[in-house]
Amino acid sequence: MSGITDAIKGRTSANNFDTTHVMSDAEIHELVALTNETPTSFNMQNYRVIAVKSPEKKAALKAAAYNQPKVSEAAVTFAIIGKMKGNEALPALIKPMLDAGALDQAAFDGWIGMCNGMYAGNQAFQRDEAIRSGSLAAMTLMYAAHDMGLVSGAMIGFDPAAVAKELHLSEDEIPVMLIAVGKAAEGNWPRKVRRAVADVVSVI
Ligand SMILES: Cc1cc2nc3c(=O)[nH]c(=O)nc-3n(C[C@H](O)[C@H](O)[C@H](O)COP(=O)(O)O)c2cc1C
Repeated sequence: MSGITDAIKGRTSANNFDTTHVMSDAEIHELVALTNETPTSFNMQNYRVIAVKSPEKKAALKAAAYNQPKVSEAAVTFAIIGKMKGNEALPALIKPMLDAGALDQAAFDGWIGMCNGMYAGNQAFQRDEAIRSGSLAAMTLMYAAHDMGLVSGAMIGFDPAAVAKELHLSEDEIPVMLIAVGKAAEGNWPRKVRRAVADVVSVI
């Protein structure tokens, strides 16, 4: 079984975390470096990650997440934050490719022009993309955590306004998902049932 298949088949959501486990800042950076490889539309990279590690901040975040214990019991709860206006940030993000000669000016201008054509002035689509990019990043983070021998628990059970306030998000930022990450304690659920593949796929 390849590493990626092992991660896909081995990852489950954890509820119970070893409360004595501490993630080092180096481990947090290693995990986010892997998450950072997530693909995004036009390479807008329109998300960021806040690693909530301190007991005080985790307690405040837990209160904003309907008191779900894993928010504070896990070593770190990662907040995946989606960003609106990803198209406006794109030129600075891909300019290094222009400077390095990996893109010529026409390709650079075309890339930005197409991106603006799709997203500029379309708030609903920008929001869709912020959630889409954040969700893809969340999945990468969960598989990367599995690969590092850690477990994870994704959460959408939170008050978005309270999370935004607690994490000092800007008006253009959206809390997409919280992900508790750490070492498993006893009592987590075994793998859950999935639909039959035939009920999921249509080959046309
Ligand atoms: C977007 C998303 C939001 C979720 N929100 C919560 C949550 O707020 N609290 C919780 O206990 N589990 C939450 N879960 C966990 C799901 O219940 C779990 O992924 C699902 O039952 C499948 O189980 P598995 O992850 O072990 O395969 C969430 C999962 C996802 C993907």
